[in-house]
Amino acid sequence: TDQPLVLGIETSCDETGVGIVRGETLLVDAVASSVDEHARFGGVVPEVASRAHLEAMVPTIERASREAGIRLEDVDAVAVTSGPGLAGALLVGVASAKALAVALGKPLYGVNHLAAHVAVDIVEHGPLPEPTMAMLVSGGHSSLLLVPDVTHDIRSLGSTIDDAAGEAFDKVARVLGLPFPGGPYVDRAAREGDAAYIDFPRGLTSRRDMERHRFDFSFSGLKTAVARWVEARERDGQPVPVADVAASFQEAVTDVLTRKAVLACRENGVEDLLIGGGVAANSRLRAMAQERCDAAGIRLRVPRPGLCTDNGAMVASLGAQMVARGRTPSPLDLPADSSMPV
Ligand code: KG4
Ligand code: ZN
Repeated sequence: TDQPLVLGIETSCDETGVGIVRGETLLVDAVASSVDEHARFGGVVPEVASRAHLEAMVPTIERASREAGIRLEDVDAVAVTSGPGLAGALLVGVASAKALAVALGKPLYGVNHLAAHVAVDIVEHGPLPEPTMAMLVSGGHSSLLLVPDVTHDIRSLGSTIDDAAGEAFDKVARVLGLPFPGGPYVDRAAREGDAAYIDFPRGLTSRRDMERHRFDFSFSGLKTAVARWVEARERDGQPVPVADVAASFQEAVTDVLTRKAVLACRENGVEDLLIGGGVAANSRLRAMAQERCDAAGIRLRVPRPGLCTDNGAMVASLGAQMVARGRTPSPLDLPADSSMPV
């Protein structure tokens, strides 16, 4: 086959991901996570993440090539997340990818983490419509991206002005006494709850905010409102209805996200919406997005949950697109850029 065989390395946060794709086909997605090591700190500790990447990198590369049934020598290119993300964590991936590319004598492609979250859907649902609107919601980012071509000229229409959506889930989970990372626990608790129990604020949706911050998000006010509500209950010696609070909070987040995503599609004449990032695993977000997209005549694409969270397959998939579209490889002095714009 003439489809490029690409190995992708992802280390921007706490997952050491190594994925291998052949063109638009996923061969393997090996992930080693240090999330358990961070749990007792209630958040990702950069120093701990870097060390964990260093320990996991070579075994994860070996595991990926073994499970894909390929020899590393057969790889056509090595792709790596060069930003944005935690500086020290990114450095481990970038240095490893350079070493591998040099040892194999193959081209190196530094890729943007956000673009990779978009590109991963190609291995799940096939070629991306051009343009596609992408909403990325995770612990580190919440952005609306207009994507004419996933390797080129992605435009950010807006992003969070304070907390990322996943961060809000994690902080609310902590207030409710749920484990870290809290998103999946809030999701689960919310299934038994009443989403209309408390009318929590929808950030940046007032008429005035829709002028200045049309496609931006804000979740810090919501997080504070939840904390205040819970504290007031506890002060009164009343039990906290965890499921109802979780459902009401989740409803506020997903309402704003889906409303703005659909509006962005409409105003830009885009008929395809992709949702990616860890929060895209949220069951209410998926259901509400599907409902609102159906009503607006927009096709919705959401990768399966395992591909929504950080992984190496997303990097390999974007790398394969770079090769297929004849993009220039990166120089071997490729830097890690922790605040890389999309
Ligand atoms: O994409 P990801 O794995 O890492 C980052 O780049 O941040 O996203 C992790 C985030 C965490 O905040 C986690 O709580 C959230 O995604 N998350 C969820 C769900 N599953 C993961 N949030 C809401 N509902 C979920 N089911
Ligand atoms: Zn991510």
